[in-house]
Amino acid sequence: MSFWPTKEHWSVSIPRFTPHPRLAILDDSTSGFLPLADANFVVPAHEWETLEYMDWKSGGDTNFAPIATMDGELDCRGFWSKDQEHPDKDAKFTANADQCPTLRDYVAGTGVNFGRMRIIKLQPQDRETALRSFHRDDNNRFNPDSDGWVVRSWLELTDNPNSYMLLMDSGADGLPDPSTEIRVPLHRGARFVVDTQRLWHVVVHNGDAPRYALITSFESGQPLQRWIDTQLPARV
Ligand SMILES: [Fe+2]
Repeated sequence: MSFWPTKEHWSVSIPRFTPHPRLAILDDSTSGFLPLADANFVVPAHEWETLEYMDWKSGGDTNFAPIATMDGELDCRGFWSKDQEHPDKDAKFTANADQCPTLRDYVAGTGVNFGRMRIIKLQPQDRETALRSFHRDDNNRFNPDSDGWVVRSWLELTDNPNSYMLLMDSGADGLPDPSTEIRVPLHRGARFVVDTQRLWHVVVHNGDAPRYALITSFESGQPLQRWIDTQLPARV
């Protein structure tokens, strides 16, 4: 039997229903997952290979390279701390941003209020191992109820067509509901937006080399809606 979260899991106590305005395309009537068109630009490998990575475990054996943080310092903490309460938005670029102009300009060019922006480096992990890191995010701590709900967006940098992000909504008991499972393919250039405070998530990475991806927090609102409208896959 694989590991499975219990009611004592820290994610269960993260708020799920709040007054924050959501985008209709990601609200409770939807899956909480929104695929975007694959990137129509190429990110040179040196933009993620030469950055400074920090030892920070989240979602498995991971390292993170912060590109934008609360104050522009190179650290991986959440935006909040006892002496500095700050929602996950209004981020400032770190020294790493100069090393990855394509990624920096991509996020800045969205026109959306962004928070933490960082590259994740994830070592291979099978599904059973990944489930141990299944979790929900605390994206909206200190975010005023009247402000837009913070969600996350991904851009896959390495090509891992046999890996996937595992998503599940919560059941009535607050634990992941297997009947809601979604598997997001992680080929190079794959892009998507996920309400990671709502959905349990983790990546099953079946490769034999690290998987790299850009993760960015975005505030819901008109600017995010406008940007998404220009990024949706072409209808066939
Ligand atoms: Fe997460």
